[in-house]
This record gives sequence, C-alpha cells and structure tokens, in this order.
Amino acid sequence: MKDNGVRLLVAGGAGFIGSNFIRYILGAHADWQVVNVDKLTYAGNLANLKDFDEDERYRFVRADICDAPRIEEIVAAERPDAIVNFAAETHVDRSINDPTLFLKTNVLGTQVLLETARRQGIARYIQISTDEVYGSLGSEGKFSEGSSLRPNSPYAASKTSGDLLVRAWFKTYGVPAIITRCSNNYGPYQFPEKLIPFFVTLLRENKPVPVYGDGMNVRDWIHVDDHSRAIEAVLLRGKPGEIYNIGGGNERTNIEITKMLFSFTGKPELLMKFVPDRPGHDRRYAIDDSKIRRELGVAPQVPFEEGLRETVRWYLENEEWCNAVRSGEYLKFYDQWYSRQGRA
Ligand code: NAD
Ligand code: DAU
Repeated sequence: MKDNGVRLLVAGGAGFIGSNFIRYILGAHADWQVVNVDKLTYAGNLANLKDFDEDERYRFVRADICDAPRIEEIVAAERPDAIVNFAAETHVDRSINDPTLFLKTNVLGTQVLLETARRQGIARYIQISTDEVYGSLGSEGKFSEGSSLRPNSPYAASKTSGDLLVRAWFKTYGVPAIITRCSNNYGPYQFPEKLIPFFVTLLRENKPVPVYGDGMNVRDWIHVDDHSRAIEAVLLRGKPGEIYNIGGGNERTNIEITKMLFSFTGKPELLMKFVPDRPGHDRRYAIDDSKIRRELGVAPQVPFEEGLRETVRWYLENEEWCNAVRSGEYLKFYDQWYSRQGRA
C-alpha cells in the first residue's frame, strides 16, 4: 500500500491497543490522518488520546460497528485508504459471564466492517485478532499461522468467528483483508481488569492479588509499541489474504509476572492470593513469529524487564486515570466475578 498521505479509519481506537496504535502512527507519519470510530464502551476512553484533541490529523466519531447504515455513512464520508479493526469486547472473564455482546461486536460488527469495505472498495482491511484463536499449548511447541483453530473461551470463539468471516470476504468477494494474531500486550492505558494493570492497582492499595489456579499458566508478553510497529508493517507491506502472527518472545508464568510486579511496586509477596481457576483457562500460549520477521522484516524491540518496569511506573504515576476508568459499571463486574467462589 502507498505510504504517503494515508487516511486511516481505526475502529476501536479509544481502547488500550487502538489508542497506543494511533499515538504511534501519528508520531511516525506526519502526513497521515486518522479517524477513530469507537462506541466508547466501558473499555473505551477518550482521555487515552487527549493529547491529540487539537491535532488536525485526528478526528473522533462515536459509533457502534454493528450499526451498518452508520458505518456505511462514516466510511463514505471519510474515504479511508485502509480500515484497521481493533473494536471488540476483549476480556475473557467477562465473556464467561455474558457471551452475547462478544458475539455481536466481534462477529456481527466484523461482518459490517467487511461488508462496508467491500461495497466501498477500501484498499486494505486489517483485522486485529489474537493468539487465543489457536487454543492452548502443552509445555512444548508454538502457534504458527497454520496451527488449528481451537478456541476455548467464548471470547476466543467470537474472535475466531470474526477471522473466518475475514477469510470468506477475501476468498468470495476479494476484499483485500489481512489478519494479525498477537499475544498478550502490556503497556500504558490498558483497562485495569487485565492481569498487569489490575494487579498494580490492587498492590498500590495494599490489597491481595487473585492468582487463578496454580499460577503456572504461561503467556507470551509483548509491549504494545512493538505490536503497533508490527501492524504498521502489515498495513504497508502485508499481503492480502495472509495471516501474520505477532509475538514478544517473552514467555512467563503468571507467578513470575506477579513476582516482578511485587518487586517493581515494592510490595510484599504475602499479598499473592491463589483463588479458584478461570473456567476453561488456557495453559500456555507461545508464538512462532518467524513469518512476519522473514517476510515483513519486523521484530519486537522493547526489552521485557525494562518495558514492564516502565509500565508499572506509568500506572503508579497515573492514579487519576485508573480511578476515572473504574466506573460504576466496572465495579459491578468486579464484585460479581471476584466474589464468586471466593475469587477475592
Ligand atoms: P480494549 O477492550 O481495551 O478496547 C476495545 C475498544 O473497542 C474500546 O475502545 C471499545 O469502546 C471499542 N468497542 C467495543 N465494542 C465496540 C463496538 N461495537 N463498536 C465500536 N467500538 C467498540 O481492547 P484491546 O486490549 O485494546 O484490544 C484491541 C484489539 O486487539 C481487540 O480486537 C483484541 O481482540 C485484540 N488483541 C488484544 C490483545 C491484548 O493483549 N489486549 C492481544 C491480541 C489481540
Ligand atoms: O493472548 C491475547 C489475549 O490476551 C487477548 O486476546 C485478550 O483480549 C487479552 O485480554 C489477553 O487475554 P488473557 O486472558 O491472557 O489476559 P488476562 O489479563 O485476563 O489474563 C492473563 C493471565 O492472568 C491469564 O492466565 C489469567 C491470569 N489472571 C488474570 C486475571 C484478570 C489471574 O490469574 N488473575 C486475574 O485476576
């Protein structure tokens, strides 16, 4: 795709990864423009991008990606060169509690965006997917783009369904669509329901942190800026119809992560509390990212310890942001989920 004067439509740009991606793109390309289309669910927060309020290259439009006429109208008005879809319900625990909204946004919403891209002849469509579509690994091996799709949670099943629609819209209608599948992201502006910001905000208040099961589940952590750089490479040099895995090469058990958080916050390890496991909890994720390294020449750059230490500092220094996003709706979920079976 051309790399000058690009007009991007980013769906879900007010969330964690979308807002970091917009900040990265506008920093890296002085002549690009971004329209951010977001429903502003509990996880969407305009404060994540308030530094761009006065920037003429950036615009926000509030809309639900499931609302086909509205999306059609926005895309017709904006005439983007590419659509990058981050918009999704993303928290596995919430999907266990109530899967319906996950199916609406992650499946039907994806179909609306694909259909709009088809009708309006958009030059690139990027679907931001996840390694969770591959299911769970034992102690050996890694997920490659050819691994079987074996989603285990309602969230993962909904993301897998979205990916299958992307494939079908490429094969049947020739929509120039690409899928990325990334591992666990960390960095600033992540909603404090996900492991790292959740635990840091609890530790700040000297509260115990609820580690699920035996704490030996493994995730492969990547800094959100490394994810953004990889998406940029896919946008510019990726091949329509292809899938690209993105990983950090940092496999850690949840106990290891929790101990690093104790160390970086200066809190005692006796605040670690083992609680009943997440149902269907995937044991291990690990990403084989050799395809994107080889074909698009992109690899993670942020050293894990350094990135995590800086991320912890960000949450400690931005207490106001954390308190503001933890609204009444969030507290309702927290009480319901963590009080069940003594999770907290
Ligand atoms: P997030 O929950 O922080 O943000 C999601 C954003 O989507 C929010 O701004 C929300 O308001 C918006 N949104 C939700 N439903 C919408 C709808 N119907 N219409 C318009 N906007 C809507 O999520 P995140 O962690 O930033 O994840 C972004 C994407 O990356 C998701 O597709 C997710 O599956 C994928 N992903 C996340 C990770 C991770 O570690 N967080 C890893 C791999 C892939
Ligand atoms: O792998 C990519 C996925 O990473 C993304 O697709 C998802 O959107 C994102 O939420 C994330 O999913 P996880 O389930 O891996 O992330 P979460 O932060 O919820 O949990 C990380 C690990 O920590 C997991 O093994 C469960 C565990 N955990 C989590 C919470 C919230 C706990 O032990 N206790 C907790 O309270």
